[in-house]
Amino acid sequence: MSVSKRRNGDFLKLPDTDCSRNPPYLVILVTSQLGQIKSRSVIRETWGKEREVAGKRIVTYFLLGNNSRPDDQIVVSMEGLRYKDIIQKDFMDTYYNLTLKTLMGLEWIHKFCSQTKFVMKTDSDMFINTYYLVELLLKRNRTTRLFTGALKMHGYPIRDPGSKWFVSKEEYPGNYYPPFCSGTGYVFSTDVANEVYTVSKKVPFFKLEDVFIGLCLAELKIKPEELHSEPTFFSDWVEFSICRYKKIITSHYITPKEMLIYWNILERSMYEECLGQEG
Ligand SMILES: *[C@@H]1O[C@H](CO)[C@@H](O)[C@H](O)[C@H]1NC(C)=O
Ligand SMILES: *[C@@H]1O[C@H](CO)[C@@H](O)[C@H](O)[C@H]1NC(C)=O
Ligand SMILES: *[C@@H]1O[C@H](CO)[C@@H](O)[C@H](O)[C@H]1NC(C)=O
Repeated sequence: MSVSKRRNGDFLKLPDTDCSRNPPYLVILVTSQLGQIKSRSVIRETWGKEREVAGKRIVTYFLLGNNSRPDDQIVVSMEGLRYKDIIQKDFMDTYYNLTLKTLMGLEWIHKFCSQTKFVMKTDSDMFINTYYLVELLLKRNRTTRLFTGALKMHGYPIRDPGSKWFVSKEEYPGNYYPPFCSGTGYVFSTDVANEVYTVSKKVPFFKLEDVFIGLCLAELKIKPEELHSEPTFFSDWVEFSICRYKKIITSHYITPKEMLIYWNILERSMYEECLGQEG
């Protein structure tokens, strides 16, 4: 087996990138499903487009698994060749495999892009204000031991068997989860991302991806922190207005159409002031 084959492990697809030669400042990893072609294409045109903010380069890659529809594989193969922004492994793409999908992203960072300063994990129905995110990360002036997002400090297992988030006593006996950040969008400094990846092999598997990351952080004794004194990461929908969206990092349940509209308005009004809303 060649060196590169061995290094590639069991990845089906890898982005065409060399982080050692041209390290990004921030890598955004977006969980996506094979069939979500439209949302990927809109993300590539909006916040996921490679760009520099304050001289810091941001790149976005998609995390994909497998399904049982051969047509989807063909489409994604062509997409991968064209955009070279897909990270894929051969596991079944189900909600309860989201933990595997996220760990695949961290494995990729660990093996191929540990030169980046920060790693964000988010979902494909999220609006991400990458401008404000970089601004706040620079203001924070810390590139190690950082984990941030929409903090969930007192989460607990839902014991109602009818819920999407149902967790049995066997899966998680405790009454509370350790502090974690909503899977809709969280950011690690790369040292933390790497440590989480390493410790994840020892932490018992848990199907809720964001809680699993919290369990890894607890093992590492790293606490999630706010990035700013005002709330900026929202795991829910935030009603759109220009001034509001300038001062948030994430908003949820955004359709591809809204994504295009909101992003274009945001970029067009980049240098307009919002009175009384100093960040
Ligand atoms: C994906 O899943 C299908 C159906 O289970 C399987 O036939 C195929 O080998 C898997 N892997 C790839 C790379 O398509
Ligand atoms: C996760 O993926 C693996 C590998 O494809 C599969 O065997 C397993 O059934 C999946 N788990 C769930 C909960 O879907
Ligand atoms: C950032 O932190 C470094 C070292 O911790 C310090 O030397 C520098 O002055 C800080 N810069 C700003 C803008 O706060």
